Amino acid sequence: MTMKDIEQLLANNKAWAEDVEKDMPGFFRKLENQHKPKFLWIGCSDSRVPADQLVGVMPGEVFVHRNISNQVINTDINLMCVLQYAIDFLRVKHIIVCGHYNCGGIEAVLENQTSGLLDHWLENVKDLMERNGTPGLDEMCELNVRLQVRNLALNTIVRRAWSQGHPLFLHGWIYSVSNGLLRDLGVSRNGLENQTEKHKQP
Ligand code: CO
Repeated sequence: MTMKDIEQLLANNKAWAEDVEKDMPGFFRKLENQHKPKFLWIGCSDSRVPADQLVGVMPGEVFVHRNISNQVINTDINLMCVLQYAIDFLRVKHIIVCGHYNCGGIEAVLENQTSGLLDHWLENVKDLMERNGTPGLDEMCELNVRLQVRNLALNTIVRRAWSQGHPLFLHGWIYSVSNGLLRDLGVSRNGLENQTEKHKQP
């Protein structure tokens, strides 16, 4: 039974590749030697929140990093490598932190049900919860995105890019698994603008 499920995935892939090639002849050949995504997506691993599909793009357009509850932790070597590669080499223009409602990781923190490594991984979310009284799950999912955008804005790799004049925007979005829609939380920022403001001061 399990093997059948796996075989189905491979069969789906073959059909998909054929469809794409039929609709857009040469699509894969073109991508072979070109990787220039404009966006880095930092999202939750939740299977209901597939980055590319949500924003309707084809392979080649979004560089993706996903982890449990879309955390930006500046000691996470995995994310730091993704950030460095995306910023210094790919020169992405936008970094989107995308959280989602009904996030299992956030819910586990609210209900005090984390354990083992997840306890460590979600430490910042716990801290956030304690600082905000007893927020509901939806509010907590939004607060989490805001916090992670802030962590990004404080990140050395991001700050260095800004100080070197790299036009890099950060954004915080939240996705609703119940209707498939994204919402911009209005926390977008571009360090360059902030710096320009500073320079204007006497
Ligand atoms: Co989640």
